[in-house]
Formats: sequence, C-alpha cells, structure tokens
Amino acid sequence: MRIGVLTGGGDCPGLNAVIRAVVQRAVRGYRWEVAGVRHGWRGLLVDEVEPLDLSKISGILPRGGTILGTSRTNPLKEPDGTARIHAAMGTHGLDALIVIGGEDTLGAANELAQGGLPLVGVPKTIDNDVNGTDVTFGFDTALSIATEAIDRLHTTAESHDRVMVVEVMGRHAGWIALHSGIAGGADMMILPEFPIPLREVCDVVRRRHERGKSFSIIVVAEGAQLTDGAVEPKRPEEAKRDAFGHVRLGGIGAWLAERIEDETGFETRYTILGHIQRGGTPTAFDRVLGSRFGVAAVDLVARKGFGRMVALRGTKIVDVPLEEAVGSLKTVGPELYETARVFFS
Ligand code: F6P
Repeated sequence: MRIGVLTGGGDCPGLNAVIRAVVQRAVRGYRWEVAGVRHGWRGLLVDEVEPLDLSKISGILPRGGTILGTSRTNPLKEPDGTARIHAAMGTHGLDALIVIGGEDTLGAANELAQGGLPLVGVPKTIDNDVNGTDVTFGFDTALSIATEAIDRLHTTAESHDRVMVVEVMGRHAGWIALHSGIAGGADMMILPEFPIPLREVCDVVRRRHERGKSFSIIVVAEGAQLTDGAVEPKRPEEAKRDAFGHVRLGGIGAWLAERIEDETGFETRYTILGHIQRGGTPTAFDRVLGSRFGVAAVDLVARKGFGRMVALRGTKIVDVPLEEAVGSLKTVGPELYETARVFFS
C-alpha cells in the first residue's frame, strides 16, 4: 500500500505535526509507503511527488509552515484537472490520498471523493472556521500570537494615551478576534458576523476617556465591516483574487483608525498582524491536535473511510463526512458574542 499526503491553502502552524504523524503511523504501524505531494493540488497536476520516509520527517515537529509547500491551486478550475489528478495517482501508485486543508482544499477534496478518488481529509486553518470539527489546529497558535500582541500594545497605548486598532486575520469568521480580544482584555472586538456602526466604536472610546482611562484597544477582524460607512470596496477589476475567488483582504484597521481619530479627536494608531499569525512554531496544543489528526487520518484510510474527514468533538477524535465540513463555515454564534460584549467597555 502506498499513500500520498498534501497540504493545500494558507499554511498553518501544526501542518508538520500532521505530516510527521501520517508518516510515522503509516510506515511504523502499517508498513505502508508514503509519498509527499508538493504545493497542494498543484503537485499532482505538475507531477511534483516525492517519497516521504522517516528520515524526511525527523525534527519537523516544532517547525512552522509545511515541509511539503502549499498553494491555493483549485484542481477543479484547471483544464482536465480531475482526470489529471486521477492519472497522477496512477502514475505514482497511490492507493489513497490524505488531504490537509481548509474550506477550499476540502471543498475540492469532497468533489473529487464523490467522483471516486480514494481520499480522506484533515481540517486545518488558523481561522478555525471549518465546520464539522470543534477546533482546527493552527488556531491556538494564531490566538497566542494575537494575544501577546494585544498585551504588548496595551503598554505602549497607555504610555502615549492612544487608541490602538489591532487588525487580525479572519475572512468570514471572527474566532481569532473574539478569543484574542477576550484573552487580551480588549475594549471592543469587531467581527465579520456582527457588523456594528462606527458610532458604537467611538462611543466606547469616549466613555473610557470620560471614566478617566486614557487609552483603548479595539480588535478588528480583517473581514469585518461597519454598518455605517463600509471600507471603500475595491472595483472588481482591481481586487486581487485567488483561484477560489476570494478577494485579498487587509486594510480595515487603517481605515478604522483614521475614522476613530477624526470622530473622537483621540490620537489613534493601527497594527496589522497579518501573516505573523501564521508563522513560526506551533503551540503544544496544535502539535498534539495535529499529531492526533495525522494518526487518525491513516487509520481512517486503513478502514477505507474515503470521503470522510477526521475531526475533534469534545475531547475525542472522530470522523465525519467531508460533506459536513464544506458548503458553509463555522462562525461565531450570538451566545458567545453576547459573552464577549460583557467586556466591551
Ligand atoms: O488561511 C486563512 C487565511 O489566513 C485568512 O485568514 C486570510 O484572509 C488568508 O488566509 C490570507 O491568505 P494569503 O496567505 O493567500 O494572503
């Protein structure tokens, strides 16, 4: 038996923990061979596939990124994409494929699985927005980085009597903004799921000053919008998009900082955390979750559970149909948001 493994979409701390676990479980547990597919789906389309043995995974557990490389290639948009993927599986003698990815990579995996490709999925993303699993690995690391940044911004905000706007990642879901805002003691979090008016943000800042506080911290998710004065949308021909049609985000922090300063008169600065949230060594939590997912994915292949994805439910690793993971995103619900609002100043 020979299996392939690929990592697609944005990179994410903990990917190497999954790859290492897949190789260890497959080679040691089942005596299978493993092939690493380079740069996501692209590796199968352009024939970048290489053997992955125990020596290749030595020492990778604490490393960020992915030793296999990644891309946002959408195989379903490539000419004869599906046929070329099936052909590449044959050429490399792959009996099954483990696909590690977020909503887009797993969406393509779901369609390919329905067309008969023997694959299983592993959910990853720092955004934590994949349905079907309580948590994705990568989220905990991004959260720790964002929380530390908020802690650091507190001291400089306080010294200068400034408002600090912190822009974090989160295209459609505000998990990082919400959790880092609670953990870092931010005065307000603005999420894609719950647009609020600019007036509400400025009121928080003003109220704090009236109470004698001279600084404020506002966390905003990159995909958030205000209800009264949206960020200038780019003209469609100007907006840069990936192969899955997503517009490249970023910029609401700068926009918001300018508006807050104009409206309240308080000096305001912004920080965009950007890809810092995705880089570097994974937390212990993400290493453990990634390792558990990797082992479970190989066991799922052994059971021929194709078209399914490993997932965390409570404290247990389970598997669910890929169908459950794609089509809609796991977003922050009203109950959790109401809890967060308790801490809005
Ligand atoms: O992988 C998810 C994510 O980090 C989003 O939060 C963000 O919008 C996007 O990826 C950024 O993508 P890229 O790395 O292609 O700029």
